[in-house]
Amino acid sequence: MADPESKVGEARPRRAERLEVEIDSLAQGGRGVARRNGYVIFVAGGLPGDRVIAEITKPKRRFAEARAVELVQAGAERVPDTCTHGGEPCPGAPWQGLAYPAQLAAKQQLVTEAMSRIGGLETGAVPIEPIIGADQHWRYRNKLEYSFGPGEDGPILGFHARGRWDLVVDVEDCHLAGEAGNARRNEVREWARREGLTAYDRSARKGLLRNLVVREGRRTGELQTRLITSAQKLPEPPVDLHTVIEGSGSGTDGPTGVLGRERLTEQLAGLRFEISHDAFFQTNTEMAERLYATVGAFAGLTGTERVFDLYCGIGSIGLSLAADAGEVWGVEVVAGAIQDAERNAELNGITNARFRVASARTGVRPLVEEAGRPDVVVLDPPRAGLSQKIVRRVLECGADRIVYVSCNPTTLAPNLAQMIEAGYRLERLQPVDMFPQTPHIECVALLRRHGPIRVRPDEPDEGGADE
Ligand SMILES: C[S@@+](CC[C@H](N)C(=O)[O-])C[C@H]1O[C@@H](n2cnc3c(N)ncnc32)[C@H](O)[C@@H]1O
Repeated sequence: MADPESKVGEARPRRAERLEVEIDSLAQGGRGVARRNGYVIFVAGGLPGDRVIAEITKPKRRFAEARAVELVQAGAERVPDTCTHGGEPCPGAPWQGLAYPAQLAAKQQLVTEAMSRIGGLETGAVPIEPIIGADQHWRYRNKLEYSFGPGEDGPILGFHARGRWDLVVDVEDCHLAGEAGNARRNEVREWARREGLTAYDRSARKGLLRNLVVREGRRTGELQTRLITSAQKLPEPPVDLHTVIEGSGSGTDGPTGVLGRERLTEQLAGLRFEISHDAFFQTNTEMAERLYATVGAFAGLTGTERVFDLYCGIGSIGLSLAADAGEVWGVEVVAGAIQDAERNAELNGITNARFRVASARTGVRPLVEEAGRPDVVVLDPPRAGLSQKIVRRVLECGADRIVYVSCNPTTLAPNLAQMIEAGYRLERLQPVDMFPQTPHIECVALLRRHGPIRVRPDEPDEGGADE
């Protein structure tokens, strides 16, 4: 009888090979999963029930990566695409073919799987609450980044085609952006054409216009526009552009000129925030409010607690908690964001919040020296999550509660497992849908200390680079 392992070997496809496959489920990160004799193919652009022609991009021993190049037969639950550009589905909305309830069910399932398969946590023991769905399924993003590309009538301005760094698809109406942001993008493209400006050619490394970032204050109606170019001088722009000049080689010359408004004002959780053009701000204003309300409920503040807000950005979580806390200390690696945080505290008359520029890895011990031990630690790291070493720095604080905001369940799961092993109990885990039509999943976890915390020593070979 044939050994199943050899069957897997036989099924291994070659790079660029095209195969007709059926998608049976969704994987972490949002790609469709197809199987041939036990060999798994992750197909970008494939949704459950679809039969697609998949082009293999990376064949490996146990699985391959691929992209759907043709939809042979749509799955029974497919809904028509809302957002298309030049007849192609929008690369920024890869799950738009799934009805919204199916998107929510898939996200709930992916969180559950991440906890059990990656975190090794017993499924029954993880209190995963039903995902909070978004109020607005389209036009919810307050920030979009577009790329310029060469077109017949001058530069086009839109998104990279899926998996194509060298091909830009022109965008007339992005259904994830607001109407004002769409109008601003089109206005900049018309200006570029009128002035005869060229798009930066990524293969030839020649040309002028590279990217455009449009941010909208959803509550204030303000717009902030950042243009990334390869030239020092531009004709008079029609709008308040911030020009950032990049070198045409690999290096970046950095911002050399800023025109118009440098900071955008937005309102969130009853506070006013000023946001510098390079600082992180939650991209879905309405759902960020729901996220922060969840953080507040999990933090359970009574007016006396010392709260550490690690990875604080412009201070928005810490400031939204300040009225219910004794004191708030924010830590963030980007100096400009900390300046924004301090200005935002002042702007809102908040006097019990302090902010420090530091990396989470090296900044926590000095902060405990300066401020004392926290009662509550809030964490909101980028997608990579926390290294084991940073988790140890957090554990050393011995906080009663840890509220962990995560935009990636696959890195959240092992971080939670490490905290549970050290002596925390995972009390609540709340997924929140901040990004409809995409596979991105946000979660808020509440961990509570239930006894002494055991922190393992750092490994000698863990390295010293800031994570
Ligand atoms: C997901 S954002 C969260 C920002 C903020 N909590 C909010 O809700 O707007 C992550 C933040 O972590 C910062 N960051 C990245 N690496 C860091 C590090 N090693 N130490 C401290 N902050 C870091 C980023 O600059 C960014 O502002």
